[in-house]
Amino acid sequence: MTDRCPMNTFIYNHPFTLECGAVLPRLEVGYHTFGELSSARSNVVWICHALTANSDPTDWWNGLVGEGCAISPERYFIVCANIIGSCYGSSGPLSLDPEKGASYFASFPLVTIRDMVKAHRLLADHLGIGEICLGIGGSMGGYQVMEWAVQEPARFAKICLLATSAKESPWGVAIHEAQRLAIEADPTWREARPDAGAAGMRAARGIGMLTYRNYTAFGNTQADEEEKLQGFKAASYIRYQGEKLVKRFNAQSYHLLTRAMDSHDVGRDRGGAAASLEKLTSDTLVIGISSDILCPVSEQQFLARSIPTAHLEVIDSPFGHDGFLVETSAIAALLTEQLRP
Ligand code: COA
Repeated sequence: MTDRCPMNTFIYNHPFTLECGAVLPRLEVGYHTFGELSSARSNVVWICHALTANSDPTDWWNGLVGEGCAISPERYFIVCANIIGSCYGSSGPLSLDPEKGASYFASFPLVTIRDMVKAHRLLADHLGIGEICLGIGGSMGGYQVMEWAVQEPARFAKICLLATSAKESPWGVAIHEAQRLAIEADPTWREARPDAGAAGMRAARGIGMLTYRNYTAFGNTQADEEEKLQGFKAASYIRYQGEKLVKRFNAQSYHLLTRAMDSHDVGRDRGGAAASLEKLTSDTLVIGISSDILCPVSEQQFLARSIPTAHLEVIDSPFGHDGFLVETSAIAALLTEQLRP
């Protein structure tokens, strides 16, 4: 993690009950803020991050967040909180379990998107934030924004949902299960050490990368020019990406957060996704990436159809699901339009 701006930690020194019924004796939430809260408290942009990102969007969304960008600290008070279950500053497998006097590791209980939103809401209260002028997130970040907006429609003036869906799809669950099988095939994965399951996570990331891109994207960027028998660029890319994640992430968090993604269903116990989304009142921009095979445009069409105040834009891009991280100029242009008063 490139920590350009220091991370803050919000400590909630009370029991925090998770949706699964387990109770964390206390909660820690790592978060970043940029810019100043206006005197009217009306300039908050809340960014929700995806699976393995951190609370510093100037690190992984540069081009969109930062000085001179569409989401700039000169204009907005920008907040991004690390999701619970992660290993970047919020309570998760590497945190201390006060009851056993050691880290939770693989025993950290199941967290859901609703638990993440519950933590975001506590942080918002702690920061004295009422209305949020824009809530934005891609992929799993979008899960959190829409869940939060369903819980508190009046909180958000505008929301932007990118490469995301109302409910984890069977395809998404199947991919995550394959990733978890890869982690579980590593006999170390439940061990009580931060690098437990590293080899399994390397393979799991490889599986993930296939779904973040697609056939054409690999052809565009990883085709070998010379004829060869082995040592292919595409193979080296997959290994490199696996190794890169191993150096920065924890396998128990990865296993846990894929289960959190599976839990996402904005309509659970609410009469279904369409019935929940129909209650949203925020000005909503839904963005899809034309070549996304993980969360295809049909998912965003469903969101745009179900949210009465939504409109859909599809970015024509060969980058697949990664488009929500790579296509910052196209996203910035759409956002600038949405943010116009
Ligand atoms: N062999 C080895 N390494 C290679 C390679 C090859 N054939 N081709 C590219 N690389 C390296 C690049 O040098 C680069 O290295 P660096 O990160 O150390 O600078 C890295 O692979 C990424 O390259 P690439 O993926 O082509 O960059 P990009 O700008 O197109 O995409 C990301 C950037 C961050 C979007 C992408 O790399 C990534 O990590 N995608 C996954 C994002 C994610 O986790 N999504 C989940 C959301 S639910």
